[in-house]
Amino acid sequence: MTATLLTNIGELTTNAGAPGDPCGTIRDAAVLIEDGVVAWAGPVVEASRAGGDIEVVDVGGRAVIPGFVDSHTHLVFGGDRADEFEARMAGTPYAAGGIRRTVDATRAAGDDELRARLAAFVAELHAQGTTTFEVKTGYGLTVDDEARLVRIAAEVTDEVTFLGAHVVPAEYADDRAGYVDLVCGPMLDAVAAHARWIDVFCERGAFTPAESERILTAGIDRGLQPRVHGNQLGHGEGVRLAVEFGAASVDHCTYLSEDDVAALAASSTVATLLPGVEFSTRQPYPDARRLLDAGVTVALASDCNPGSSFTSSMPLMIALAVREMGMTPAEAVWAATAGGARALHRDDVGHLGPGARADLVVLDAPTRVHLAYRPGVPLVDAVYRDGALMGS
Ligand code: NIG
Ligand code: FE
Repeated sequence: MTATLLTNIGELTTNAGAPGDPCGTIRDAAVLIEDGVVAWAGPVVEASRAGGDIEVVDVGGRAVIPGFVDSHTHLVFGGDRADEFEARMAGTPYAAGGIRRTVDATRAAGDDELRARLAAFVAELHAQGTTTFEVKTGYGLTVDDEARLVRIAAEVTDEVTFLGAHVVPAEYADDRAGYVDLVCGPMLDAVAAHARWIDVFCERGAFTPAESERILTAGIDRGLQPRVHGNQLGHGEGVRLAVEFGAASVDHCTYLSEDDVAALAASSTVATLLPGVEFSTRQPYPDARRLLDAGVTVALASDCNPGSSFTSSMPLMIALAVREMGMTPAEAVWAATAGGARALHRDDVGHLGPGARADLVVLDAPTRVHLAYRPGVPLVDAVYRDGALMGS
């Protein structure tokens, strides 16, 4: 058995907490890791029970949090859209139509090119403290291209989402129904074995509520679990649909009616907020405070993609959520860890209670508050995944 004791932790966020402190904060703490799993977490003074052959790591009073769980990324793609970003900063508004440019670049890219790109993103995620992440397809949009994207994504994560319903590709512009048939039939057949989730971009300019319902139903019939992109660019039916389908999560949630908020609050569907999008598109930020006050479970994710949010930084999401969306630092850290885990229906990650996967981040800071307090500063000192120090 391999055992490691992380000790002299100034502030430990376990997320195994009670309502007054959902972060389950322990000061002057230690964590015992056995065989890649958290065996015990508690005050240093109680850590003497950890006897035997143990590697002791003194973290020097630093804060430790669970590894980030990024429940929403689009990391398999070719090309980039820096020119589009530049034009947007000069006043051109964001439009989902840009997705088709990335579709062209992705179709033109070879498997090895996509794989190498993805590997670089994965290294980037790990270096920033993300230890669990989801990856969507959605830039292939032919049967063969979606099949290869799903296979490449499955090489790096168990959390693969089929997003054939990202936009209607140019070659089907005059035959939307034909494209929906393709997604619900041959495309699903080709991807179902490699994906866990089915997603649909339910938005004006992408898929209508009726089309979205058909697509989610077909995915569920093939054993996939639903999640939805909704209410990003304007008010719409995405949230209603997600709740009706019992989706794990509805993502974006920028434009919400009172009914949307009430429906989310009465459901088990997580509202995943993606502030990198609003930061990069100059749209208004979603109102996290309103959702939290209504009792909705909120997650934060990066939505890393070349169009609307080309950043994989969960610390940046936390800083934006605190600065722009009314979240407390504790709420934002919880949302970026335990919230992401809820949005992926995972109970083995996102917390550091006994039995959790020993995925954790040592911050080069005394408290988690510093993630928002020191925006843009690389505060990830060390990352452990399955109990092993990464990069060593
Ligand atoms: O989540 N909303 C749809 N899809 C992505 C944007 C993709 C792109 O612009 O390439 C998103 O923001
Ligand atoms: Fe997205």
